[in-house]
Amino acid sequence: MNDGWVELIDATEIPLGDHRFVEAEGLRLLVHHIAEGYFVTASTCPHQEFEMDRCALTGHVITCTEHGWKFDVRTGAVVAVGDEDSPLPSYRAEVRGARVWAKLF
Ligand code: FES
Repeated sequence: MNDGWVELIDATEIPLGDHRFVEAEGLRLLVHHIAEGYFVTASTCPHQEFEMDRCALTGHVITCTEHGWKFDVRTGAVVAVGDEDSPLPSYRAEVRGARVWAKLF
């Protein structure tokens, strides 16, 4: 740990266009690998707490399969479907060497 930055996963484990579930610091997280890079969000949908680890990414958008809310994984913002006042928590992420880190606190 370093000023809230936490090492999460080997970047090479996540194919482009996919994500992986990790737990760190008591948080349930998804590490997304998209064309713009690696991004970290909560894995739990803010609508009704569905776990989105098996929900597909389309570009930078993840769609919750429960009721179809859509989130921009770069920012956590609701896009198109959902309550814009209930974004998906997101965290700053960096790749250091081959590892993905996120600032979790
Ligand atoms: S629980 Fe995700 S959209 Fe309802």
